[in-house]
Amino acid sequence: MRRLPTRSTGTVRRRVVGAMAVAVLCTGGLVAVPASATPTAAQAEAPPAPDEGPALTPPMGFNNWNSTHCSADFDEAMVKGIADLFVDKGLKDAGYQYVNLDDCWALPSRDANGKLVPDPARFPNGIKAVADYVHSKGLKLGIYTSAGTKTCSDIGFPGALGHEYSDAQQFADWGVDYLKYDNCNNQGVDAKQRYTTMRDALKATGRPIVYSICEWGENKPWEWAGDVGQLWRTTGDISDSWGSMLSLMKQNLPLAQYAGPGHWNDPDMLEVGNGGMTDTEYRTHFSMWSVMASPLLIGTDLRKASDETYEILSNHDVIAVDQDPLGKQGTVVSSEGGRWVVSKEMKDGSRAVALFNESGSAQRIATTAKEVGLPSATAYAARDLWQHKDFNTAGTLAATVPAHGTVLLRVAADPKWAAYPPASELGLDEGVFVEPGAAAKVTATFTDLGRTPARDVAVSVSGPAGKGWAVKAAGPTRASEVPSGKSLRTRWTVTPPAGAATGAYDLTLRATYRSPQGTKVTSTVPVTASVATAPPSGASDLGDLPWLATSNGYGPVERNTSNGEDGAGDGNPLTIGGTVYAKGLGVHAPSSVDYYAARSCERVTAQVGVDDEKDTKGTVAFEVWADGKKVASTGVLTNSDAPQSLSADVTGAQVVRLVVTDGGDGVDSDHADWGDAQLDC
Ligand code: GLA
Repeated sequence: MRRLPTRSTGTVRRRVVGAMAVAVLCTGGLVAVPASATPTAAQAEAPPAPDEGPALTPPMGFNNWNSTHCSADFDEAMVKGIADLFVDKGLKDAGYQYVNLDDCWALPSRDANGKLVPDPARFPNGIKAVADYVHSKGLKLGIYTSAGTKTCSDIGFPGALGHEYSDAQQFADWGVDYLKYDNCNNQGVDAKQRYTTMRDALKATGRPIVYSICEWGENKPWEWAGDVGQLWRTTGDISDSWGSMLSLMKQNLPLAQYAGPGHWNDPDMLEVGNGGMTDTEYRTHFSMWSVMASPLLIGTDLRKASDETYEILSNHDVIAVDQDPLGKQGTVVSSEGGRWVVSKEMKDGSRAVALFNESGSAQRIATTAKEVGLPSATAYAARDLWQHKDFNTAGTLAATVPAHGTVLLRVAADPKWAAYPPASELGLDEGVFVEPGAAAKVTATFTDLGRTPARDVAVSVSGPAGKGWAVKAAGPTRASEVPSGKSLRTRWTVTPPAGAATGAYDLTLRATYRSPQGTKVTSTVPVTASVATAPPSGASDLGDLPWLATSNGYGPVERNTSNGEDGAGDGNPLTIGGTVYAKGLGVHAPSSVDYYAARSCERVTAQVGVDDEKDTKGTVAFEVWADGKKVASTGVLTNSDAPQSLSADVTGAQVVRLVVTDGGDGVDSDHADWGDAQLDC
């Protein structure tokens, strides 16, 4: 995967932008520490930070990095503009507090006295003026530097290594309330030592300053930084892509036990609103960061943000999950086939429950009140935190979740449950795969999950608007009552027009019903219908066959070349262990490629491995799935492995999926080739 071009940790540099950073081996060499690194007498006598400590809930605010990097957009006008919008748009009321400056705020050289100098082009009035402005709005100001000789930007602004006490004092004098302390150009000095020195320097100023450790998880800060900083990055840098966000989430989820009030896991700042993901994906990003009790640092230029972006970032119900005073990070209840259930214990005894669909098509995700840790009860209240509606459930928590989507619930053993309408579940029993002009039979099921009956139930299915699809019910679509735990099942015939192009289409399932008290509920579920043609009989090259859907760590899945990480067609010949394959697929972990097999195929075969273009570090595992069941897999393969033969029995499958995982160590350099991949039908 990509690396930043010229930035260096000073020792072995393996910094990456995007989904995952790999370990930096700091060589432990010490640098001479100038006198300014030791406290002056006055500083040493400064009062200790208050006992309570800051950041008792995860810090919320803004940081410019994800939207501007070091571009000219990053300046005083931006910072003030964001502070204004925090107030005007209700974000301050929603809990956002810190307005943080990232790299590139300074000049490349210190002044004659060793002081940091704000860049006069960006901050003509200095940092104190900006801090005063931000404070005048009732907000707080954050700043950035590196625990190294220079910061991370290519230009290399001064870092604080060896200047900890004087830089910290300068920040305090300006009125800074938050410091993000990066890891570049660290000269191999022990991380614990570097980060602890700055902690002590901040403490010596006497000003409460939230301390954000940004060493990318390389030295497992969760194991030692609980009394060093209030938050620590657990991952490499986020980028504005689904693959990056997902990878960081997966690295951060297992660290739940280390998070708590005043010491948080930080899987990096938000990308919501930056345009590289869909709003569904951004809602997942925001939901999952909140369930993980992550810092919520807005990373988009709010001066240009859409209403939808504001709506996501100011969802009070979701923010309340993040900011819950108990301070628990959610834990994984189950994860299989891309269906994730993550549950966060809340101070009031309720649970925030994320039903997250990692996969590229809608699927049912289900759990129970018991599984998410709630005590046994007759029924529960469940609030849908994106719909802002309350329901009652007898215990089942289930939904058809759109591709890459998250249904976020807050569930409580609440004696008031009967006041809410019954929760329901609506979905298709199986995926819809249909050939142009042919009829597909599908079953839609409405189930009452509540303890009370659903009355006047009506279910409908509609095809994509204006595209000429015929949809007919072959059974009753209404019921005067669906009792607790019971279902209304309806067979439907769905026919795309004969000229329909192959591809994915949105069908809409809708149910309306009333609670016993008469409250009307409408529930709408988007499901995907795939128009596809059966593969020809005999052996077909998967590098040439049309696919149903793909997802890929970097860039698109490539046909008959390796994956070059960026645009289509930027790869090389597929090459594993010196063998070149004219046909096949070039992907980047995490990846999946779905083919329609029309229940008429028998076998997938391929020669698989890490492409030779990556010299080291690539570790991947290959899997073949048939209709949601894993039917073949390799172990973890690395660059030094010869091509491995893979053969999978896919007899009778409707959909065959080729999967590449990251081999368990993150996605860096994971260029994976499916050489000579064929489907036999
Ligand atoms: C590192 C950090 C980022 C950002 C940049 C600035 O990559 O991890 O979050 O601060 O440096 O150069």
